[in-house]
Amino acid sequence: MTAAILETHALHKSFGALTVAQNINFSLEPGTFEALIGPNGAGKSTFVNLLTGLIPPTSGSVILDGQDVTALSIESRVKRGMVRTFQINTLFNSLTVAENVILALDEHHGQGWRPLPSPSRRRIIREEAYEILGRLGLDAWGNREVKELPYGRQRLVEIAIALALRPKVLLLDEPAAGIPSTETGTIIEVLESLASDLAVLIIEHDMDLVFRFAQRITVLVQGAVLARGTPDEIANNDTVKAVYLGEGIHA
Ligand SMILES: Nc1ncnc2c1ncn2[C@@H]1O[C@H](COP(=O)(O)OP(=O)(O)O)[C@@H](O)[C@H]1O
Ligand SMILES: [Mg+2]
Repeated sequence: MTAAILETHALHKSFGALTVAQNINFSLEPGTFEALIGPNGAGKSTFVNLLTGLIPPTSGSVILDGQDVTALSIESRVKRGMVRTFQINTLFNSLTVAENVILALDEHHGQGWRPLPSPSRRRIIREEAYEILGRLGLDAWGNREVKELPYGRQRLVEIAIALALRPKVLLLDEPAAGIPSTETGTIIEVLESLASDLAVLIIEHDMDLVFRFAQRITVLVQGAVLARGTPDEIANNDTVKAVYLGEGIHA
């Protein structure tokens, strides 16, 4: 039994009278590709926002790699290995794909723009960038400007930037949103391959993809965990079928 890399204990969040996270107990193991599913408004994005520190919980705690990070800033959680994908507009569209990843690596290594690094250091960072791009099948696009890429590939560049921060946990809130359905399978497949050495939690609406790729599924309804289990367990869970899967809400 592997120790969880990420846990929540009775994580609770209310916006006034509206409770959007109800005492959520959750754990994510390294090497796991887990999906978080549930109807619109179930509190999926809120849960990720609580994990990353974007919003504070009303009560409860977030444990990352054995450490209570509930009171820590977003940045210090990132430094400790909890990374979420960035919004599309954080990409530098007129820089190349590799340059975008290099900027993120510089940031991670505390390099920034100055002092001017040595040529050998530049080469090492460049190789590191291409290693990450290779994991995402993007290496052939390295010298292209981001704006030249199809939208689906641009979303992968965001994930490359997230990987440059050397996450232990990668949180992805609908990474395939807005991507033509012909491309979404490829993206999820790439993400699933990343989960061999880190933990990935993905919010995804396409149930075919979720059930094809996820090793574990958590179902959230009205801010509460309705069920957790393997795809088989979730698919055969009568409550889940009645409340969520049966209704075709995700269409
Ligand atoms: N900052 C906020 N203030 C008040 N209500 C919010 C806020 N953020 C989210 N909510 C509410 O919390 C509920 C869950 O939203 P969300 O987490 O975005 O759901 P999901 O991602 O599952 O669709 C919704 O009813 C939403 O309107
Ligand atoms: Mg959402």
